[in-house]
Amino acid sequence: MTSDCSNDGMGKDSIVEVSDLTVRFGDFTAVDGVSFNVRRGEVFAFLGPNGAGKTTTIRTITTIQRATSGRVVIDGFDIDTHRLEARRRIGIAQQHISLDNELTVAQNIRHHAMLHKIPRSEYRTRVLPIASGLGLDPYMSRRVSDLSGGWKRRAAITCAILHEPSVLFLDEPTAGLDTQSRHILWDLVRDLNAGGTTVFLTTHYMDEAEALCDRVAIISSGRISAIGTVDELRESVGPYTVEVTEGSKVAVTRHPTLEDARAYAESLGDVLCNVRLTNLEDVFLDISGGKCLVDHRCHR
Ligand SMILES: Nc1ncnc2c1ncn2[C@@H]1O[C@H](COP(=O)(O)OP(=O)(O)OP(=O)(O)O)[C@@H](O)[C@H]1O
Ligand SMILES: [Mg+2]
Repeated sequence: MTSDCSNDGMGKDSIVEVSDLTVRFGDFTAVDGVSFNVRRGEVFAFLGPNGAGKTTTIRTITTIQRATSGRVVIDGFDIDTHRLEARRRIGIAQQHISLDNELTVAQNIRHHAMLHKIPRSEYRTRVLPIASGLGLDPYMSRRVSDLSGGWKRRAAITCAILHEPSVLFLDEPTAGLDTQSRHILWDLVRDLNAGGTTVFLTTHYMDEAEALCDRVAIISSGRISAIGTVDELRESVGPYTVEVTEGSKVAVTRHPTLEDARAYAESLGDVLCNVRLTNLEDVFLDISGGKCLVDHRCHR
């Protein structure tokens, strides 16, 4: 499913609208004319390899980085003409956690509450319950530098949601975390989303995109090569896969139906083969290899 497909979010109730966004650093183009929308209430992901342009896109949408050209509208507010209104609706937990390591969690939270102009009188009633809700009570008086990666992330997310943003940007929220911490973070994202927050996250992890996201955009070299639900992406390359093992090599074909996949496997005769559902990793490999965008049956 290519970026001009019908499920790129355009025309629906969009909370983030990005049109022809380009970001250059000198001669280098990090984001190359991307257009997409994030729908209100969804969990949306940018899935892409190192250097794909995920962070640059998020930093530009959230007004940390200036665009070279293009347009970004947040909840109806253009970030160039209505910067403050747009900013009020955004929360961001950056890839490199931007908390003050020397301060305690409580001090960081208080600082962010001040930045968001939350009145001191509302600190106890509005701010502390958010920290409690994310399980931070036992860590409030600990210095951020003394926290594990998972708790640092939670503290950063707490700071990002104090002002109750409509859309929360999480850049690599689970990078470097152990399996248990990742699952805790996933549950946290689901809870925030169930509470009405739209979430836009970036990840390298296929299972994370598959487990959490309503729609996924695959990005590489600053361009979106596919966008849609996981099922739509699977459909776009062929939802069934036949893996044929020959020695140490595995040949892969995609198929439009289970019957077609089984018939193909049987036609191969006496070879070791496995018929399975196509997964997001298959989609990613096909698309980043430039294959299977049109033809549903291809070899890798
Ligand atoms: N301030 C900058 N100056 C020059 N080049 C930059 C700058 N910021 C990013 N880049 C380059 O832009 C490209 C995209 O970087 P970006 O950080 O957006 O990628 P990413 O998809 O977030 O990667 P990762 O998965 O490693 O976080 C990279 O080649 C990076 O080196
Ligand atoms: Mg990044």
